[in-house]
Amino acid sequence: MEGKNMTRRDFLDQVGKVGGAVAVWGAMESLGLLGNPLMASAKDFNAPKKSDLAIANKNGKKIIILGAGIAGMAAAYELGKAGYDCKILEARNRTGGRNWTVRGGTAQTEINGIKQTAKFDKGQYMNAGPARIPQNHVTMDYCKELGVKLEVFANVNEFSYYYQENAGSLSNQKIRKGTIKADTRGYVAELLAKVVDKAALDAPLSKDDIDRLKDYLIREGDLSAELKYNGSSRRGYKELPGGGLQPGTMDKPYNFSDLLQSGMMNSISGDYSFTQQPMMFQPVGGMDQIPKALEKQLPGKITFGAEVKEIRQSATGVRIVYKTKSNGKTKEMKGDYCICTIPLPVLKNIPADFTAPMKNAIKSINYATTGKIGLQFKNRFWEQDDRILGGITTTNMDISQIWYPSHDYLTKKGVLIGYYNFGQNAVNYGNLSLSQRQARALSQGGKIHPQYAKEFENSFSVAWHKIKYNEGGWAEYSASDRKNYYPILNEPQGRIHLAGEHLSYLTGWMAGSFESARIVVSRIHEDVLKESKVNSKVGLTVN
Ligand code: ALA
Repeated sequence: MEGKNMTRRDFLDQVGKVGGAVAVWGAMESLGLLGNPLMASAKDFNAPKKSDLAIANKNGKKIIILGAGIAGMAAAYELGKAGYDCKILEARNRTGGRNWTVRGGTAQTEINGIKQTAKFDKGQYMNAGPARIPQNHVTMDYCKELGVKLEVFANVNEFSYYYQENAGSLSNQKIRKGTIKADTRGYVAELLAKVVDKAALDAPLSKDDIDRLKDYLIREGDLSAELKYNGSSRRGYKELPGGGLQPGTMDKPYNFSDLLQSGMMNSISGDYSFTQQPMMFQPVGGMDQIPKALEKQLPGKITFGAEVKEIRQSATGVRIVYKTKSNGKTKEMKGDYCICTIPLPVLKNIPADFTAPMKNAIKSINYATTGKIGLQFKNRFWEQDDRILGGITTTNMDISQIWYPSHDYLTKKGVLIGYYNFGQNAVNYGNLSLSQRQARALSQGGKIHPQYAKEFENSFSVAWHKIKYNEGGWAEYSASDRKNYYPILNEPQGRIHLAGEHLSYLTGWMAGSFESARIVVSRIHEDVLKESKVNSKVGLTVN
């Protein structure tokens, strides 16, 4: 760079080489590059600076982290960069927490004792927890920094289906999403164009703007010059155009009233919500590539099979009591600070030195009930017969969704997500036996894909509210929870800080865990700096 003007990008690249994503974040903040509202927010993030490393190292501060999920490992990773000594206690024998990729051999026992072992073939898997990453999330930056390879996750596929029951004359038919979208846009554009045409004189727009609006609506709805929707090639064909003498034949659009009754239109907006619009991404080979990459950065720092039993603190330190699964012995670990990433439904039952308002806040937050089933099929009939490569089918049956894999296209076998549901539907499925869950998913999904019956091989199902150490999908805050409890949960409790997706406005996303971990890292680091300044003022040397 010498002799040349360093661009901001060059500078950030250099900072990144030395300090990684977090340092880049800090540098970007100081360069004023974080003004883009599409980027993940890091307002409270004050990354440990290189000049501070010596202080952290010298103080030898020990941070005990509870949980080796995304938040816990991200905190250890960032604190480790700044020289802190971190130890993670993890109840399971694996990292990742809810970031859990199920492969052949994965075993799970639910809280009521239901046991299962996945029988998926080698190379087949399901992401039981997080399964898609929005491109603006900080998760992407960590994937880059940690070398986790990404591929596109097809969240929206116009070739996948809507399928509704008890919804008028379009009931019990699988209809391509693109068809429903084309008809919806056509009719709504037609209606609006006609209204605009008639009300032109009263409209708060100039004549030219009215014409421009009509022009837009004609394109948006594929309308005729007479402002009429007569169908569109966008909705697909009865017979596809092809070679030779095959011009293709179009079908008539659905009747507008039937379309309205079907309720399918009401699902369209989900395809362009802020977090679920294309593009979305996933790690190649399973979502657990992210925790695996974090784990690799933390050799020797994680104690597995360590179930936290008590969280204690004094004015000078923290003390964690835990039980080791291997021999059932109770042990203690002492440190200067604690970062607790244990999900609230689990944390509420662990004796802890928290204030009464904190204990009350912890037990007041609801977690989502949610479930998924992975169905392995002998053949990817959805790709071969239906020409659906990735994407999601949406239905009002209680399976709610079918997810087609966004990887290894046009290979032989595949694992579909046969249901991904929430609320009462998830509770109902969770209450079934494994074979009942499978049978119900097959019978409902089989109405859309009759090939299920012939091609099915095996399944693995997860009811997150029944999974030990989680007891729920993600925190679900009501507006009053955000007002009454959320600020308390965000306050440090002496030397203990909570972190996780539940300490964010990105609940249910790994980015919430990453961002919350970064905030806690900043806070602890600031506390240490403050403490070391106080100590040097009163002439104390720190060991
Ligand atoms: N973020 C979760 C999802 O993608 C809830 O479904």
